[in-house]
Amino acid sequence: MSHVLVKHIGMLATPQGTSAKKGAEQGKIQILKDAWVLIEDGMISKIGTGEAPAVTCDVVDAEGKLVTPGLVDAHTHLIFGGWRQNELGMKLHGKTYLEIQNAGGGIQSTTNATRQATEEELTQKAAKALDEMMGFGTTTVEAKSGYGLATEHELKALQVIQNLNDRHPMDIVATFMGAHLVPAEYKQNRGEYIRLVCEEMIPLVQKQGIAKYCDVFCEADTFTVEESRQVLEAGLKHGLRPKIHADEIEAIGGSQLAGELGAISAEHLIVCPPEGIESLAKGGVIACLLPATSFNLGAVFAPARDMVNAGVPVAMATDFNPGSCPCLNMQFVINLGCLKYKLTPEEVLTAVTLNGAAAIDCAHKVGSVEVGKQGDLVIWDAPDLDYICYRVGSNLVKSVIKGGKLV
Ligand code: NIG
Ligand code: FE
Repeated sequence: MSHVLVKHIGMLATPQGTSAKKGAEQGKIQILKDAWVLIEDGMISKIGTGEAPAVTCDVVDAEGKLVTPGLVDAHTHLIFGGWRQNELGMKLHGKTYLEIQNAGGGIQSTTNATRQATEEELTQKAAKALDEMMGFGTTTVEAKSGYGLATEHELKALQVIQNLNDRHPMDIVATFMGAHLVPAEYKQNRGEYIRLVCEEMIPLVQKQGIAKYCDVFCEADTFTVEESRQVLEAGLKHGLRPKIHADEIEAIGGSQLAGELGAISAEHLIVCPPEGIESLAKGGVIACLLPATSFNLGAVFAPARDMVNAGVPVAMATDFNPGSCPCLNMQFVINLGCLKYKLTPEEVLTAVTLNGAAAIDCAHKVGSVEVGKQGDLVIWDAPDLDYICYRVGSNLVKSVIKGGKLV
């Protein structure tokens, strides 16, 4: 495998370590000026400042620009058929997310489209999204099933993620989310659908080894706290660690459940109450916040500062999906992290790299630029970290290096 020297780095900005940062630690990052990074066999082998070593390998000149770790998008609904631009008009006429869902739009309509799509069609569609994500600086993503809502189609979505891991340079971590919505055919018999998820889908997911996590949409009109507990406990029994969509629209107790079960992360948390924050802190749960969803829903923004103050590690991701957040640009998430959550550029950088990596148990190999980690870097068309947080609406990526290769 080839070796690469990245030299003339004006500013190297990176969190450090192999686990999530919380409290004041979230804002402490390393800044090196006039730096270089050597990547050997895909792994970072040396980092220094001043004159770069004389090596006989490929050289990438960062031309005095900012370099950060590759961004980690720890929450996406990557695998789906169709889009839902038809819902924009309804939204503009004042229909809420749950009203659109209850009128047969929303997740159910994407489920219909996903069931109709072949594995190959879904693979090609998601590959295109991954290309775009990588172009915006993302080098690792989490991807959920959850638009199949039937055993065959949930397994198909997870198989698509496997295919993409083989075919695409992006690293992808799979989450099973059969409990995204009770599908139309089980509306009158929701208990039976939950049984199917727990007793048929989850054991098959474990047997095929095609997901690491089990997620559930714990929300009014989708899954109650007790139903969510049932699903997540079934996942745990089969080796799938819990994640949970909690407090996105109404606070019905999802964040408390996350703390109780020791979920690796709780997602959204837009209306997370103080007792929810306390439970996350106690349970060591990472808050995976999705500000572009608040933006798209016209909702309020999660209480990120309260979470940092309470010692909850904050990660940030896109939530890329065809409904509540058709956005795959982590730079927009960075902007919103500063402008709407009022986190500092340093806290935001940690949220979109190391803490995101920790939310998918990858912080030992990605999420920071350190010796021994994977050679995943972004070279930005920017002089410093503040610049990428403040500039809105442009793609500031100059180049992306994934596993030591320019992509
Ligand atoms: O994270 N909250 C549940 N799932 C997605 C939205 C899904 C959709 O609208 O299709 C979310 O916002
Ligand atoms: Fe989501």
